[in-house]
Amino acid sequence: MKARVLVTRRLPDGGTEPLTAAGHEIVTPEDDQALTHAQLCGAAAEVDAIVCLLTDRVDDAVISAGAGRLRVIANVAVGYDNIDVAAATAAGIAVCNTPGVLDETTADLAFLLVLAASRLVSTAESDLRAGRWEGWGINQYLGRDVHGATLGVVGYGRIGQAVARRAAGFGMQVLHHTRHDTGVPGWIADLDALLAESDAVSLHVPLADDTRHLIDARRLTLMKPTAVLVNTARGPVVDEAALAQALEGGQIFAAGIDVYEREPEVHPSLLTAPRAVLLPHVGSASQQTRTRMAQLACDGAVAVLAGGQPPNLVTA
Ligand code: GLV
Repeated sequence: MKARVLVTRRLPDGGTEPLTAAGHEIVTPEDDQALTHAQLCGAAAEVDAIVCLLTDRVDDAVISAGAGRLRVIANVAVGYDNIDVAAATAAGIAVCNTPGVLDETTADLAFLLVLAASRLVSTAESDLRAGRWEGWGINQYLGRDVHGATLGVVGYGRIGQAVARRAAGFGMQVLHHTRHDTGVPGWIADLDALLAESDAVSLHVPLADDTRHLIDARRLTLMKPTAVLVNTARGPVVDEAALAQALEGGQIFAAGIDVYEREPEVHPSLLTAPRAVLLPHVGSASQQTRTRMAQLACDGAVAVLAGGQPPNLVTA
């Protein structure tokens, strides 16, 4: 049966193909502007499915507004901290996400940040662009070697493992931390110990109550003064103000950051902190991957609307 699906923003070309192939009606804001929370609540009441982005806050109010008609919320992202999954589940509304299709693309960017932060790429490039480079100098822009260094991967899901594979290609020693023993060599039970031993730390945990400010002022002091911190997971996993202070104080060498505590805002002290490579949340941003993500989210919505259980169903 033809359903009405709210797609909150224009998706990459071909992204909504599964919805059209299934004959569903798509409603989408005309001007491709983000819906306000009130507009999202209003729209939720009039559709059978929502395909949304990580920038849409789908909280209890949106879910209550949709309850009765709304059957599925499909997030075009692997992270789903923007959705109140418990409230959706309680209201009988399925939630799905996009696992698997963005791992390699996101790992590429995480490794890019390991390299860029270690080699002070942003500082060197902005000096050159601003006309501050006066010619080659033997003591200029002295970064840290990535090859042969130790990478600490925090969270060892699909993306963390994909970063570890890249690190192996650079001759790095790889450690990883998860709460449960992975049985894979390099597992470290104690996060503090991993931080103390690593030359580069890359974060790959979802945002949850127990990972908010996982890297705080105390943990930053455990890192080597020569180490770099990379975050492509979720902004609130790192205390941004504490990170800025650690960079200012030389407690750590550099940082590569793609995600922020209050996007699109970036803590002002992080913007001015030295040796930080700052990107605007582009971890999964390749044409191919964003299209696959959109299609996978829409596939999930189509499956639920047809009365099925998609493999990318999220549970509370
Ligand atoms: C991107 O940040 C995602 O969660 O897919």
